[in-house]
Amino acid sequence: MKHLLSTADLTRDEAILILDTANQLAQATGQGVGKLPPLRGRTVVNLFYEDSTRTRISFEAAAKRLSADVINFAAKGSSVSKGESLKDTALTLEAMGADAIVLRHGSSGAAHTLANSGWISGSVVNAGDGTHEHPTQALLDAYTLRRHLRDGAGDLAGATITIVGDILHSRVARSNVHLLKTLGANVRLVAPPTLLPFGVDTWGAEVSYTLDDALVGADAVMMLRIQQERMNAAYFPTIHEYSQRYGLNQARVNLMNQGAIVMHAGPMNRGVEITSEVADSPQSVIVEQVTNGVSVRMAVLYLMLGGNEATV
Ligand code: CP
Repeated sequence: MKHLLSTADLTRDEAILILDTANQLAQATGQGVGKLPPLRGRTVVNLFYEDSTRTRISFEAAAKRLSADVINFAAKGSSVSKGESLKDTALTLEAMGADAIVLRHGSSGAAHTLANSGWISGSVVNAGDGTHEHPTQALLDAYTLRRHLRDGAGDLAGATITIVGDILHSRVARSNVHLLKTLGANVRLVAPPTLLPFGVDTWGAEVSYTLDDALVGADAVMMLRIQQERMNAAYFPTIHEYSQRYGLNQARVNLMNQGAIVMHAGPMNRGVEITSEVADSPQSVIVEQVTNGVSVRMAVLYLMLGGNEATV
């Protein structure tokens, strides 16, 4: 695996290999081994043009647990503010020894451009590009679903996953739909019509405007953050009305299958798309998603920089 840009690029076997590798690495580090050696001498750069808590810190933790050197670059406070381009920034980082660049950028397609432009020779991981994709989020979500619904092995064939909220602006939803379908799950998308993207009917998911209906028979629900920073118009009358129609409360959780889990990629708008009662309930795996993100990102970096390339 040279780059990870989109979950649409992953076959079922490639996705399963990443999830299985994450499982093995989680077991190894969980048994008190501490740091593992495979990326000793390699350098991973976190190149973040947009804010992040979970993704940036977990890539840093993942790289360090594999003994890589890590450079954290935030566009704020850098020469980007003087007009330096993505190309020149990446060339500068590669000149300092970057073997892989983990890129978060506000422009959809930025990671593809960096990977396919020929500017740099190293690997590129898409850590979120605009409203396009966030592949490692979908992989950690699949890992979490597999642990709870499938005893941590195989695929997600037959599972029903309901994704709710601001699908229009969500790179998390796009990456999840691709990957969940590749792993055999049934995917339901729920949102007001204004927050569904043009062409969503071609994604291979059931589309609904009614949350309660889409929760009946579901094995998991993924709540999406309302991305007000990307909204340049009024997509719903009021936050209160949105919350009434599309917010997850305990009564709605009770509509799902027994043992169903509640997910959110974070950061959450508590009281908007999810109540605190549900976010902090035993059915919520939101904090576990963060923990699993480190193992999954270790697997991606390992397979990209230190593992057997022929197997992915
Ligand atoms: N889920 C996610 O991408 O969170 P951050 O924006 O904090 O990285």
